Amino acid sequence: MKKQILVTGGTGYIGSHTVVELQEKGYEVVIVDDLSNSSIDVLDAIGKITGLRPAFEQFDLSDSIKTNTFFDKYTDIEAIIHFAAFKAVGESVGKPLNYYRNNLNSLMNLLDNMKRRNIINMVFSSSCTVYGQPDVLPVVENTPRKQAESPYGNTKSICEDILRDCCKAYPQINCIALRYFNPIGAHPSSLIGELPLGVPNNLVPFITQTAAGLRDELSIFGDNYNTPDGTAIRDYINVVDLAKAHVIAINRLLNKKRTSNYEYFNIGTGEGYSVLQLVKTFIAVTGVNLAYKIVERRAGDIEKIWADTSIANNELGWKAETSLGDTLLSAWNWEKKVRGLGN
Ligand code: NAD
Ligand code: WQD
Repeated sequence: MKKQILVTGGTGYIGSHTVVELQEKGYEVVIVDDLSNSSIDVLDAIGKITGLRPAFEQFDLSDSIKTNTFFDKYTDIEAIIHFAAFKAVGESVGKPLNYYRNNLNSLMNLLDNMKRRNIINMVFSSSCTVYGQPDVLPVVENTPRKQAESPYGNTKSICEDILRDCCKAYPQINCIALRYFNPIGAHPSSLIGELPLGVPNNLVPFITQTAAGLRDELSIFGDNYNTPDGTAIRDYINVVDLAKAHVIAINRLLNKKRTSNYEYFNIGTGEGYSVLQLVKTFIAVTGVNLAYKIVERRAGDIEKIWADTSIANNELGWKAETSLGDTLLSAWNWEKKVRGLGN
């Protein structure tokens, strides 16, 4: 019998890529998304890539009544991948209650139904943001978490705590939290990718929009960090590689291979690249001459972080496969497709 997987936030950036990978591995998916940060058209795109348009329900998961009604209707769910959350770091500083309400209530409503209906498996979207600026690099899973810089980051830390405590109190429940580093890129089909609303906050969408002529130039935030070229370092993970980690995590839960009923893994490449290195790689692989200037540091930014991925590599048998160059090219191909620019 096919296993039905609930993917919350499944029309979003990482969720949509994960739905593709799940369907390609034969899983039956139902998506819940309120479309607060994504488009219904994504369902057609997933249908084009996989030959199957997933089941879809549109509602806000922070609404407990609607969430309960959903689970009354869908009684064959074996596992949940919970992507749905607000994720804009800057916005969360000005609207903390929106972030706490949305991100915490959605998780608690799901856990409540898991407990009551004996749905025992969840994969949760966590973030490297829980580490803050680590004292030692690369970060391993037991590197101490630091006080979050933003309400958004704090929701990820609190959600991890909620999962840990629920797994302890309800031993039938099994959760895997995946701590993503910086997801970038798009599906090789260029049918799905990242579509930020308004001016992008994140580096790669800003670069591709600048290259496409929507922005005049990229501002590089600071070149006086303690790094080889002075610009900040991150671990940029290809979104399809990241999506595959979710399928592996689901297999692990369904095959009961875990070592404890609450596990958490770093999902990155294990390599750090500076902003300038990334910009230069983008120019090299696309041949587009990108205008950029150095400006002041951005408030709240950390200097450098990258993952130690050995636990994910050894325990999950997962490894990032796509090069930074190929990933940036996929992001550019997607941007061109969205903007109707030819090859
Ligand atoms: P996204 O905004 O593209 O996708 C999230 C989806 O959830 C959107 O489609 C949105 O409409 C939906 N959603 C939000 N709140 C909802 C609610 N209450 N009910 C129903 N649907 C709701 O974001 P993404 O980049 O795909 O991120 C997915 C997850 O990964 C998020 O939890 C995010 O915090 C986490 N994460 C993202 C990054 C990143 O840089 N993109 C890094 C680390 C962790
Ligand atoms: C990357 C680097 C910027 C834009 C954010 C969240 C984090 C996680 C991942 C969800 C930094 C620099 C950026 C620009 C620049 N998300 N930059 N010019 O800040 O590492 O992480 O996404 O959990 O919580 O904070 O990602 O893409 O914004 O920035 O120079 O126009 O690019 O300063 O060094 P960040 P980012």
